[in-house]
Amino acid sequence: MDFRKEIERRRTFGIISHPDAGKTTLTEKLLLFGGAIQEAGAVKSNKIKKGATSDFMEIERQRGISVSTSVLAFHYKDKKINILDTPGHKDFAEDTFRTLTAVDSVIVVIDVAKGVEEQTEKLVSVCRMRHIPIIVFINKLDREGKDAFDLMDEVEKKLGLSVTPLSFPIGMGYDFQGIYNIWEKNINLFSGDSRKNIEETIAISDLNHPDLDQLIGAAPASRLREELDLIQEVYPPFDRDAYLEGRLQPVFFGSALNNFGVRELLDCFIDIAPPPRPKESDTRVVDPQEGKMTGFVFKIHANMDPKHRDRLAFVKIVSGTFERNRPYIHVRQQKALKFSSPNAFFAEKKEVVDVSYAGDIVGLHDTGNFKIGDTLTEGEQLNFRGIPSFSPEHFRYINNADPLKAKQLEKGIDQLMDEGVAQLFTLEMNGRKVIGTVGALQYEVIQYRLEHEYGAKCTYENFPAYKACWVKADDPKNEEFKEFSRIKHKFLATDKFGQLVFLADSAFSVQMTQDKYPSVKLRFTSEEI
Ligand code: G4P
Repeated sequence: MDFRKEIERRRTFGIISHPDAGKTTLTEKLLLFGGAIQEAGAVKSNKIKKGATSDFMEIERQRGISVSTSVLAFHYKDKKINILDTPGHKDFAEDTFRTLTAVDSVIVVIDVAKGVEEQTEKLVSVCRMRHIPIIVFINKLDREGKDAFDLMDEVEKKLGLSVTPLSFPIGMGYDFQGIYNIWEKNINLFSGDSRKNIEETIAISDLNHPDLDQLIGAAPASRLREELDLIQEVYPPFDRDAYLEGRLQPVFFGSALNNFGVRELLDCFIDIAPPPRPKESDTRVVDPQEGKMTGFVFKIHANMDPKHRDRLAFVKIVSGTFERNRPYIHVRQQKALKFSSPNAFFAEKKEVVDVSYAGDIVGLHDTGNFKIGDTLTEGEQLNFRGIPSFSPEHFRYINNADPLKAKQLEKGIDQLMDEGVAQLFTLEMNGRKVIGTVGALQYEVIQYRLEHEYGAKCTYENFPAYKACWVKADDPKNEEFKEFSRIKHKFLATDKFGQLVFLADSAFSVQMTQDKYPSVKLRFTSEEI
Protein backbone atom coordinates (compact mmCIF):
# COMPACT_ATOMS: atom_id res chain seq x y z
CA MET A 1 0.00 0.00 0.00
CA ASP A 2 1.16 3.50 -0.82
CA PHE A 3 2.66 5.11 2.30
CA ARG A 4 0.19 7.97 2.10
CA LYS A 5 -2.74 5.58 2.36
CA GLU A 6 -1.06 3.85 5.28
CA ILE A 7 -0.78 7.19 7.08
CA GLU A 8 -4.35 8.13 6.22
CA ARG A 9 -5.72 5.01 7.90
CA ARG A 10 -3.99 5.60 11.23
CA ARG A 11 -5.99 6.81 14.25
CA THR A 12 -3.81 7.65 17.23
CA PHE A 13 -5.64 8.73 20.35
CA GLY A 14 -5.63 8.76 24.13
CA ILE A 15 -8.37 7.92 26.62
CA ILE A 16 -8.46 10.30 29.56
CA SER A 17 -10.53 10.27 32.71
CA HIS A 18 -10.55 10.77 36.41
CA PRO A 19 -9.41 7.52 38.08
CA ASP A 20 -12.21 4.94 38.31
CA ALA A 21 -14.41 6.41 35.60
CA GLY A 22 -13.72 3.33 33.46
CA LYS A 23 -10.73 4.10 31.23
CA THR A 24 -9.13 0.66 31.63
CA THR A 25 -12.44 -1.12 31.10
CA LEU A 26 -13.19 0.87 27.97
CA THR A 27 -9.68 0.29 26.59
CA GLU A 28 -10.13 -3.40 27.12
CA LYS A 29 -13.48 -3.48 25.38
CA LEU A 30 -12.07 -1.59 22.42
CA LEU A 31 -9.30 -4.17 22.15
CA LEU A 32 -11.88 -6.96 22.31
CA PHE A 33 -13.73 -5.42 19.38
CA GLY A 34 -10.49 -5.10 17.50
CA GLY A 35 -9.83 -8.81 18.10
CA ALA A 36 -6.53 -7.86 19.72
CA ILE A 37 -7.36 -9.72 22.93
CA GLN A 38 -9.64 -12.67 23.46
CA GLU A 39 -11.03 -12.13 26.93
CA ALA A 40 -11.84 -9.44 29.42
CA GLY A 41 -9.29 -8.93 32.17
CA ALA A 42 -6.32 -9.04 29.81
CA VAL A 43 -5.50 -5.36 30.10
CA LYS A 44 -3.88 -4.57 33.38
CA SER A 45 -4.84 -1.41 35.10
CA ASN A 46 -2.12 1.19 35.35
CA LYS A 47 -3.84 2.53 38.40
CA ILE A 48 -2.11 2.89 41.72
CA LYS A 49 -4.16 0.66 43.96
CA LYS A 50 -4.51 1.87 47.50
CA GLY A 51 -4.08 -0.45 50.39
CA ALA A 52 -2.22 -3.69 49.99
CA THR A 53 1.26 -2.32 49.37
CA SER A 54 2.73 1.09 49.97
CA ASP A 55 2.08 3.56 47.21
CA PHE A 56 5.54 3.73 45.77
CA MET A 57 5.87 -0.03 45.50
CA GLU A 58 2.63 0.11 43.59
CA ILE A 59 4.26 2.61 41.27
CA GLU A 60 7.06 0.15 40.62
CA ARG A 61 4.49 -2.50 39.85
CA GLN A 62 2.76 -0.10 37.55
CA ARG A 63 6.03 0.83 35.84
CA GLY A 64 6.50 -2.85 35.18
CA ILE A 65 3.26 -3.15 33.29
CA SER A 66 3.16 0.26 31.76
CA VAL A 67 5.67 -0.57 29.04
CA SER A 68 3.20 -3.09 27.71
CA THR A 69 0.25 -0.72 27.98
CA SER A 70 2.04 2.37 26.68
CA VAL A 71 0.72 1.83 23.19
CA LEU A 72 -2.08 -0.59 22.44
CA ALA A 73 -2.43 -0.98 18.71
CA PHE A 74 -4.98 -2.96 16.75
CA HIS A 75 -6.74 -3.09 13.43
CA TYR A 76 -10.43 -2.40 13.19
CA LYS A 77 -12.21 -2.48 9.84
CA ASP A 78 -9.73 -0.77 7.54
CA LYS A 79 -8.12 1.38 10.25
CA LYS A 80 -4.97 0.96 12.30
CA ILE A 81 -5.73 2.20 15.78
CA ASN A 82 -3.09 3.26 18.30
CA ILE A 83 -4.32 3.90 21.84
CA LEU A 84 -1.77 5.76 23.95
CA ASP A 85 -1.96 5.01 27.63
CA THR A 86 -2.29 7.86 30.10
CA PRO A 87 -1.59 7.30 33.79
CA GLY A 88 -4.61 7.72 35.99
CA HIS A 89 -2.90 8.86 39.18
CA LYS A 90 -2.85 12.61 39.62
CA ASP A 91 0.77 12.60 40.71
CA PHE A 92 1.59 11.51 37.19
CA ALA A 93 -0.45 14.18 35.48
CA GLU A 94 2.62 15.52 33.74
CA ASP A 95 3.17 12.17 32.04
CA THR A 96 -0.33 12.43 30.72
CA PHE A 97 0.18 16.01 29.55
CA ARG A 98 3.21 14.85 27.57
CA THR A 99 1.33 11.93 26.07
CA LEU A 100 -1.29 14.41 24.92
CA THR A 101 1.36 15.97 22.65
CA ALA A 102 1.47 12.68 20.74
CA VAL A 103 -2.24 12.03 20.21
CA ASP A 104 -4.37 13.19 17.33
CA SER A 105 -7.61 13.04 19.31
CA VAL A 106 -8.95 11.93 22.69
CA ILE A 107 -11.92 10.16 24.23
CA VAL A 108 -12.91 11.50 27.65
CA VAL A 109 -14.63 9.01 29.94
CA ILE A 110 -17.06 10.38 32.52
CA ASP A 111 -18.81 8.43 35.27
CA VAL A 112 -22.58 8.98 34.96
CA ALA A 113 -22.99 9.19 38.74
CA LYS A 114 -19.96 11.32 39.55
CA GLY A 115 -20.12 13.65 36.60
CA VAL A 116 -17.14 15.85 35.77
CA GLU A 117 -14.31 15.32 38.26
CA GLU A 118 -11.18 17.29 39.02
CA GLN A 119 -8.66 15.33 36.99
CA THR A 120 -10.91 15.40 33.95
CA GLU A 121 -11.12 19.18 34.16
CA LYS A 122 -7.33 19.57 34.13
CA LEU A 123 -6.73 17.14 31.30
CA VAL A 124 -9.51 18.51 29.14
CA SER A 125 -8.23 22.05 29.62
CA VAL A 126 -4.90 20.96 28.12
CA CYS A 127 -6.71 19.32 25.19
CA ARG A 128 -8.75 22.47 24.68
CA MET A 129 -5.69 24.67 24.61
CA ARG A 130 -4.25 22.45 21.89
CA HIS A 131 -7.54 22.19 19.96
CA ILE A 132 -7.44 18.41 20.17
CA PRO A 133 -10.67 16.83 18.88
CA ILE A 134 -12.57 15.34 21.81
CA ILE A 135 -15.30 12.69 22.02
CA VAL A 136 -17.07 12.33 25.38
CA PHE A 137 -18.14 8.88 26.60
CA ILE A 138 -20.52 8.85 29.54
CA ASN A 139 -20.03 5.52 31.26
CA LYS A 140 -21.78 3.23 33.75
CA LEU A 141 -25.30 3.75 32.46
CA ASP A 142 -26.21 0.45 34.11
CA ARG A 143 -26.03 2.37 37.40
CA GLU A 144 -28.18 5.14 38.77
CA GLY A 145 -26.68 8.46 37.83
CA LYS A 146 -27.33 12.03 36.86
CA ASP A 147 -29.93 12.99 34.29
CA ALA A 148 -28.43 12.91 30.79
CA PHE A 149 -29.34 16.53 30.00
CA ASP A 150 -27.97 17.75 33.36
CA LEU A 151 -24.75 15.88 32.69
CA MET A 152 -24.31 17.41 29.27
CA ASP A 153 -24.87 20.81 30.88
CA GLU A 154 -22.22 20.02 33.46
CA VAL A 155 -19.79 18.92 30.74
CA GLU A 156 -20.34 22.19 28.90
CA LYS A 157 -19.98 24.37 31.98
CA LYS A 158 -17.15 22.65 33.83
CA LEU A 159 -15.11 21.55 30.84
CA GLY A 160 -15.84 24.55 28.66
CA LEU A 161 -16.98 22.31 25.81
CA SER A 162 -19.78 22.62 23.35
CA VAL A 163 -21.47 19.25 23.02
CA THR A 164 -23.91 17.43 20.81
CA PRO A 165 -25.13 13.92 21.69
CA LEU A 166 -24.63 11.21 19.05
CA SER A 167 -26.33 8.61 21.19
CA PHE A 168 -28.90 8.87 23.96
CA PRO A 169 -29.81 6.55 26.81
CA ILE A 170 -33.23 5.00 27.30
CA GLY A 171 -33.62 4.99 31.06
CA MET A 172 -30.78 4.49 33.46
CA GLY A 173 -29.62 2.20 36.24
CA TYR A 174 -32.31 -0.35 37.07
CA ASP A 175 -34.49 0.96 34.24
CA PHE A 176 -31.72 1.14 31.68
CA GLN A 177 -33.16 -0.25 28.47
CA GLY A 178 -30.68 0.69 25.85
CA ILE A 179 -29.40 3.43 23.65
CA TYR A 180 -30.73 5.31 20.70
CA ASN A 181 -27.89 5.80 18.28
CA ILE A 182 -28.38 9.25 16.77
CA TRP A 183 -25.34 8.82 14.51
CA GLU A 184 -26.51 5.57 12.92
CA LYS A 185 -30.21 6.25 13.54
CA ASN A 186 -31.04 2.97 15.22
CA ILE A 187 -31.73 1.51 18.63
CA ASN A 188 -29.75 -1.02 20.53
CA LEU A 189 -31.47 -2.73 23.38
CA PHE A 190 -29.59 -3.60 26.51
CA SER A 191 -30.02 -7.27 27.13
CA GLY A 192 -28.44 -7.68 30.52
CA ASP A 193 -25.05 -8.79 31.53
CA SER A 194 -22.58 -9.34 28.74
CA ARG A 195 -19.37 -8.88 30.62
CA LYS A 196 -17.50 -11.70 29.03
CA ASN A 197 -18.72 -11.62 25.47
CA ILE A 198 -19.47 -9.04 22.91
CA GLU A 199 -23.18 -9.29 22.30
CA GLU A 200 -25.02 -8.37 19.21
CA THR A 201 -27.90 -6.06 20.00
CA ILE A 202 -31.20 -5.57 18.20
CA ALA A 203 -31.40 -2.62 15.87
CA ILE A 204 -34.49 -0.66 14.85
CA SER A 205 -34.26 2.11 12.35
CA ASP A 206 -37.66 3.84 12.49
CA LEU A 207 -38.34 5.72 15.69
CA ASN A 208 -42.04 6.22 15.01
CA HIS A 209 -42.71 2.58 14.35
CA PRO A 210 -45.09 0.99 16.92
CA ASP A 211 -42.48 -1.76 17.33
CA LEU A 212 -40.60 0.68 19.54
CA ASP A 213 -43.56 0.92 21.96
CA GLN A 214 -43.70 -2.84 22.06
CA LEU A 215 -40.03 -3.23 22.74
CA ILE A 216 -39.46 -0.66 25.45
CA GLY A 217 -43.02 0.15 26.53
CA ALA A 218 -45.30 3.00 25.47
CA ALA A 219 -44.25 5.47 28.16
CA PRO A 220 -40.47 5.13 27.68
CA ALA A 221 -41.01 5.25 23.91
CA SER A 222 -42.89 8.53 24.03
CA ARG A 223 -40.38 9.94 26.47
CA LEU A 224 -37.55 9.02 24.12
CA ARG A 225 -39.32 10.70 21.22
CA GLU A 226 -39.72 13.85 23.31
CA GLU A 227 -36.10 13.81 24.40
CA LEU A 228 -34.90 13.44 20.85
CA ASP A 229 -37.07 16.37 19.79
CA LEU A 230 -35.53 18.41 22.57
CA ILE A 231 -32.02 17.41 21.48
CA GLN A 232 -32.79 18.61 17.96
CA GLU A 233 -33.94 21.95 19.33
CA VAL A 234 -31.19 22.53 21.86
CA TYR A 235 -28.01 21.03 20.42
CA PRO A 236 -26.35 21.85 17.14
CA PRO A 237 -26.24 19.10 14.52
CA PHE A 238 -22.94 17.23 14.41
CA ASP A 239 -20.43 18.97 12.18
CA ARG A 240 -17.18 17.11 11.56
CA ASP A 241 -15.12 20.21 10.83
CA ALA A 242 -16.23 21.79 14.10
CA TYR A 243 -15.27 18.58 15.91
CA LEU A 244 -11.88 18.43 14.20
CA GLU A 245 -11.18 22.04 15.09
CA GLY A 246 -12.09 21.42 18.74
CA ARG A 247 -15.24 23.57 18.59
CA LEU A 248 -17.82 20.78 19.00
CA GLN A 249 -17.66 17.58 21.04
CA PRO A 250 -19.91 14.61 20.31
CA VAL A 251 -21.21 12.69 23.32
CA PHE A 252 -21.86 8.94 23.59
CA PHE A 253 -23.52 7.02 26.40
CA GLY A 254 -22.86 3.44 27.42
CA SER A 255 -21.58 0.93 29.89
CA ALA A 256 -18.04 -0.19 29.22
CA LEU A 257 -18.27 -3.02 31.72
CA ASN A 258 -21.28 -4.44 29.92
CA ASN A 259 -19.83 -3.80 26.53
CA PHE A 260 -22.74 -1.58 25.80
CA GLY A 261 -22.47 1.44 23.57
CA VAL A 262 -18.82 0.63 22.90
CA ARG A 263 -19.26 -0.61 19.34
CA GLU A 264 -21.27 2.53 18.52
CA LEU A 265 -18.47 4.63 19.93
CA LEU A 266 -15.78 2.78 18.01
CA ASP A 267 -17.66 2.75 14.72
CA CYS A 268 -18.31 6.46 14.93
CA PHE A 269 -14.77 7.09 16.11
CA ILE A 270 -13.21 5.52 13.03
CA ASP A 271 -15.58 7.52 10.83
CA ILE A 272 -14.96 10.92 12.35
CA ALA A 273 -11.63 10.89 14.27
CA PRO A 274 -8.76 12.54 12.47
CA PRO A 275 -5.86 10.75 10.78
CA PRO A 276 -2.41 12.02 11.89
CA ARG A 277 -2.51 15.79 12.11
CA PRO A 278 0.04 18.39 10.99
CA LYS A 279 2.34 19.49 13.79
CA GLU A 280 3.94 22.81 14.45
CA SER A 281 7.72 23.00 14.80
CA ASP A 282 9.97 25.94 15.55
CA THR A 283 10.50 26.57 11.85
CA ARG A 284 7.32 25.40 10.08
CA VAL A 285 4.23 23.21 10.21
CA VAL A 286 5.06 19.62 9.27
CA ASP A 287 2.46 17.65 7.34
CA PRO A 288 2.20 13.89 8.03
CA GLN A 289 2.03 13.14 4.31
CA GLU A 290 5.46 14.63 3.61
CA GLY A 291 7.88 12.02 2.31
CA LYS A 292 10.63 12.72 4.81
CA MET A 293 10.54 11.26 8.30
CA THR A 294 10.22 13.51 11.31
CA GLY A 295 9.31 12.50 14.84
CA PHE A 296 9.79 13.37 18.48
CA VAL A 297 10.33 11.63 21.80
CA PHE A 298 7.39 12.02 24.17
CA LYS A 299 8.15 9.36 26.74
CA ILE A 300 11.14 7.45 28.07
CA HIS A 301 11.14 4.26 30.09
CA ALA A 302 14.39 3.47 31.84
CA ASN A 303 15.90 0.56 33.69
CA MET A 304 13.12 -1.93 33.33
CA ASP A 305 15.75 -4.57 33.78
CA PRO A 306 18.01 -3.70 36.72
CA LYS A 307 20.86 -5.70 35.19
CA HIS A 308 21.01 -3.57 32.08
CA ARG A 309 20.89 0.14 31.67
CA ASP A 310 18.11 -0.22 29.18
CA ARG A 311 15.96 2.65 28.08
CA LEU A 312 13.13 2.70 25.66
CA ALA A 313 12.37 6.03 24.03
CA PHE A 314 8.87 6.37 22.59
CA VAL A 315 8.85 8.34 19.36
CA LYS A 316 5.71 9.64 17.70
CA ILE A 317 6.28 9.70 13.96
CA VAL A 318 4.97 13.02 12.69
CA SER A 319 5.66 12.60 8.96
CA GLY A 320 6.84 10.06 6.43
CA THR A 321 8.00 6.56 7.27
CA PHE A 322 10.43 5.37 9.91
CA GLU A 323 12.68 2.63 8.62
CA ARG A 324 14.86 0.16 10.43
CA ASN A 325 18.63 0.70 10.02
CA ARG A 326 18.21 3.98 8.25
CA PRO A 327 20.23 6.89 9.69
CA TYR A 328 18.27 9.74 11.25
CA ILE A 329 19.53 13.00 12.69
CA HIS A 330 19.13 13.65 16.38
CA VAL A 331 18.64 17.40 16.02
CA ARG A 332 19.65 18.51 19.53
CA GLN A 333 22.87 16.51 19.44
CA GLN A 334 23.51 16.93 15.70
CA LYS A 335 24.26 13.26 15.57
CA ALA A 336 23.29 10.57 13.07
CA LEU A 337 21.69 7.55 14.72
CA LYS A 338 20.60 4.19 13.28
CA PHE A 339 18.19 1.84 14.95
CA SER A 340 18.55 -1.85 14.27
CA SER A 341 15.54 -2.95 16.30
CA PRO A 342 12.80 -0.34 16.44
CA ASN A 343 9.79 -1.73 18.26
CA ALA A 344 6.24 -1.38 17.11
CA PHE A 345 3.40 -2.09 19.49
CA PHE A 346 0.47 -4.41 18.97
CA ALA A 347 -2.08 -4.89 21.71
CA GLU A 348 0.23 -5.89 24.51
CA LYS A 349 3.16 -7.16 22.49
CA LYS A 350 6.03 -5.32 20.98
CA GLU A 351 7.81 -6.49 17.86
CA VAL A 352 10.74 -5.33 15.78
CA VAL A 353 9.42 -3.82 12.57
CA ASP A 354 11.03 -2.63 9.35
CA VAL A 355 8.70 0.26 8.60
CA SER A 356 6.36 2.42 10.67
CA TYR A 357 4.25 5.29 9.44
CA ALA A 358 3.33 8.78 10.56
CA GLY A 359 0.82 8.41 13.38
CA ASP A 360 2.57 5.31 14.73
CA ILE A 361 4.72 5.12 17.80
CA VAL A 362 8.09 3.38 17.68
CA GLY A 363 10.03 2.32 20.74
CA LEU A 364 13.77 2.88 20.31
CA HIS A 365 16.40 1.29 22.51
CA ASP A 366 18.52 4.09 23.80
CA THR A 367 21.79 4.30 25.63
CA GLY A 368 21.22 7.78 26.97
CA ASN A 369 20.96 9.93 23.86
CA PHE A 370 17.38 11.00 24.30
CA LYS A 371 15.55 13.49 26.43
CA ILE A 372 11.82 14.01 26.28
CA GLY A 373 11.05 16.46 23.49
CA ASP A 374 14.00 15.50 21.25
CA THR A 375 13.37 15.58 17.52
CA LEU A 376 14.55 13.10 14.87
CA THR A 377 14.61 14.06 11.18
CA GLU A 378 16.27 13.05 7.92
CA GLY A 379 18.54 16.07 8.25
CA GLU A 380 16.24 19.07 8.48
CA GLN A 381 16.95 21.38 11.39
CA LEU A 382 13.66 21.64 13.21
CA ASN A 383 12.33 21.04 16.69
CA PHE A 384 8.75 20.17 17.49
CA ARG A 385 6.98 22.51 19.78
CA GLY A 386 4.42 21.71 22.36
CA ILE A 387 6.21 19.57 24.92
CA PRO A 388 6.37 22.08 27.71
CA SER A 389 7.25 21.39 31.30
CA PHE A 390 4.52 22.45 33.68
CA SER A 391 5.32 24.08 36.98
CA PRO A 392 5.69 21.47 39.70
CA GLU A 393 3.57 21.71 42.83
CA HIS A 394 6.17 20.45 45.33
CA PHE A 395 9.78 21.48 45.77
CA ARG A 396 12.57 19.94 47.85
CA TYR A 397 16.33 20.24 48.05
CA ILE A 398 18.01 16.95 47.25
CA ASN A 399 21.14 16.11 49.26
CA ASN A 400 23.69 13.38 48.82
CA ALA A 401 23.54 10.98 51.77
CA ASP A 402 26.57 8.93 50.75
CA PRO A 403 29.62 11.02 49.81
CA LEU A 404 31.30 8.05 48.12
CA LYS A 405 28.45 7.77 45.66
CA ALA A 406 28.29 11.36 44.42
CA LYS A 407 28.83 10.33 40.77
CA GLN A 408 26.13 7.68 40.87
CA LEU A 409 23.73 10.16 42.43
CA GLU A 410 24.40 12.71 39.75
CA LYS A 411 23.97 10.17 36.97
CA GLY A 412 20.80 8.81 38.54
CA ILE A 413 19.25 12.24 38.96
CA ASP A 414 20.21 13.13 35.41
CA GLN A 415 18.64 10.05 33.91
CA LEU A 416 15.48 10.15 35.99
CA MET A 417 14.99 13.76 34.91
CA ASP A 418 15.52 12.80 31.23
CA GLU A 419 12.78 10.29 31.76
CA GLY A 420 10.53 13.07 33.02
CA VAL A 421 9.97 11.63 36.50
CA ALA A 422 10.45 15.10 38.02
CA GLN A 423 12.15 18.40 37.24
CA LEU A 424 15.51 19.57 38.39
CA PHE A 425 16.30 23.19 39.17
CA THR A 426 19.82 24.34 39.99
CA LEU A 427 19.96 27.44 42.16
CA GLU A 428 21.98 30.26 40.63
CA MET A 429 23.20 31.38 44.02
CA ASN A 430 24.97 28.25 45.22
CA GLY A 431 24.42 25.47 42.70
CA ARG A 432 22.21 23.47 45.07
CA LYS A 433 19.75 21.15 43.41
CA VAL A 434 16.00 21.41 43.90
CA ILE A 435 13.65 18.69 42.70
CA GLY A 436 10.16 19.74 41.67
CA THR A 437 7.32 17.25 41.33
CA VAL A 438 3.61 17.20 40.61
CA GLY A 439 2.85 14.92 43.55
CA ALA A 440 4.60 14.13 46.82
CA LEU A 441 4.71 10.45 45.87
CA GLN A 442 7.48 11.07 43.36
CA TYR A 443 10.01 11.82 46.10
CA GLU A 444 9.65 8.30 47.40
CA VAL A 445 9.90 6.92 43.88
CA ILE A 446 13.08 8.90 43.18
CA GLN A 447 14.69 7.87 46.46
CA TYR A 448 13.81 4.25 45.86
CA ARG A 449 14.97 4.20 42.27
CA LEU A 450 18.21 6.07 42.99
CA GLU A 451 19.06 3.46 45.56
CA HIS A 452 17.99 0.39 43.60
CA GLU A 453 19.05 1.38 40.12
CA TYR A 454 22.11 3.57 40.80
CA GLY A 455 23.26 2.55 44.26
CA ALA A 456 22.99 6.16 45.47
CA LYS A 457 21.36 7.52 48.59
CA CYS A 458 19.65 10.87 49.02
CA THR A 459 17.80 12.91 51.58
CA TYR A 460 15.41 15.79 51.06
CA GLU A 461 14.94 19.14 52.70
CA ASN A 462 11.96 21.37 52.26
CA PHE A 463 12.29 24.20 49.77
CA PRO A 464 9.56 26.75 50.31
CA ALA A 465 8.43 27.43 46.77
CA TYR A 466 4.91 27.76 45.47
CA LYS A 467 5.46 27.63 41.71
CA ALA A 468 8.24 27.58 39.17
CA CYS A 469 7.88 30.56 36.82
CA TRP A 470 9.85 30.45 33.60
CA VAL A 471 11.32 33.90 33.01
CA LYS A 472 11.29 35.68 29.69
CA ALA A 473 12.71 39.17 29.67
CA ASP A 474 11.64 41.57 26.91
CA ASP A 475 15.19 42.85 27.04
CA PRO A 476 17.74 41.01 29.19
CA LYS A 477 20.00 44.06 29.05
CA ASN A 478 17.58 46.59 30.47
CA GLU A 479 17.76 47.98 34.01
CA GLU A 480 14.49 46.39 35.01
CA PHE A 481 15.74 42.89 34.30
CA LYS A 482 19.03 43.62 36.07
CA GLU A 483 17.17 44.79 39.14
CA PHE A 484 14.85 41.78 39.03
CA SER A 485 17.89 39.47 38.83
CA ARG A 486 19.57 41.22 41.75
CA ILE A 487 16.55 41.42 44.07
CA LYS A 488 15.32 37.89 43.32
CA HIS A 489 18.78 36.35 43.18
CA LYS A 490 18.03 33.88 45.97
CA PHE A 491 15.01 32.49 44.11
CA LEU A 492 16.51 32.16 40.65
CA ALA A 493 17.48 28.83 39.19
CA THR A 494 18.01 27.13 35.84
CA ASP A 495 16.05 24.14 34.57
CA LYS A 496 17.70 21.20 32.81
CA PHE A 497 17.76 23.05 29.50
CA GLY A 498 19.48 26.04 31.10
CA GLN A 499 16.34 28.21 31.03
CA LEU A 500 15.97 30.79 33.77
CA VAL A 501 13.30 30.02 36.37
CA PHE A 502 11.99 32.11 39.25
CA LEU A 503 10.96 29.89 42.18
CA ALA A 504 8.26 32.05 43.70
CA ASP A 505 7.23 31.42 47.28
CA SER A 506 3.60 32.54 46.96
CA ALA A 507 0.92 33.60 44.51
CA PHE A 508 1.27 37.05 46.01
CA SER A 509 4.96 37.16 45.23
CA VAL A 510 4.29 36.19 41.58
CA GLN A 511 1.76 38.98 41.31
CA MET A 512 3.99 41.56 43.01
CA THR A 513 6.96 40.64 40.86
CA GLN A 514 4.92 40.82 37.72
CA ASP A 515 3.55 44.26 38.70
CA LYS A 516 6.94 45.62 39.62
CA TYR A 517 8.83 44.31 36.60
CA PRO A 518 6.31 44.31 33.74
CA SER A 519 8.98 43.70 31.09
CA VAL A 520 9.95 40.44 32.78
CA LYS A 521 7.36 37.85 31.77
CA LEU A 522 6.63 34.97 34.13
CA ARG A 523 4.99 31.75 32.91
CA PHE A 524 3.98 28.55 34.70
CA THR A 525 5.06 26.49 31.69
CA SER A 526 8.46 26.24 30.04
CA GLU A 527 7.01 27.31 26.72
CA GLU A 528 3.78 28.91 25.62
CA ILE A 529 0.97 26.45 25.11
P1 G4P B 1 -10.06 3.66 35.42
O1 G4P B 1 -9.15 2.89 34.51
O2 G4P B 1 -10.68 4.86 34.78
O3 G4P B 1 -9.48 4.01 36.73
O4 G4P B 1 -11.33 2.73 35.75
P2 G4P B 1 -11.54 1.16 35.60
O5 G4P B 1 -11.76 0.80 34.17
O6 G4P B 1 -10.51 0.43 36.36
O7 G4P B 1 -12.96 1.06 36.31
C1 G4P B 1 -13.15 1.44 37.66
C2 G4P B 1 -14.27 0.61 38.26
O8 G4P B 1 -15.48 0.88 37.57
C3 G4P B 1 -14.04 -0.89 38.13
O9 G4P B 1 -14.62 -1.50 39.27
C4 G4P B 1 -14.85 -1.25 36.91
O10 G4P B 1 -15.25 -2.60 36.90
C5 G4P B 1 -16.03 -0.32 37.08
N1 G4P B 1 -16.72 -0.04 35.80
C6 G4P B 1 -16.19 0.31 34.61
N2 G4P B 1 -17.15 0.48 33.69
C7 G4P B 1 -18.33 0.23 34.30
C8 G4P B 1 -19.69 0.20 33.86
O11 G4P B 1 -20.03 0.45 32.72
N3 G4P B 1 -20.63 -0.10 34.82
C9 G4P B 1 -20.30 -0.39 36.10
N4 G4P B 1 -21.28 -0.68 36.93
N5 G4P B 1 -19.04 -0.40 36.55
C10 G4P B 1 -18.06 -0.10 35.65
P3 G4P B 1 -13.78 -1.94 40.52
O12 G4P B 1 -14.73 -2.60 41.43
O13 G4P B 1 -13.00 -0.77 41.03
O14 G4P B 1 -12.73 -2.90 39.93
P4 G4P B 1 -12.88 -4.39 39.47
O15 G4P B 1 -12.70 -5.15 40.71
O16 G4P B 1 -14.25 -4.54 38.86
O17 G4P B 1 -11.78 -4.54 38.50
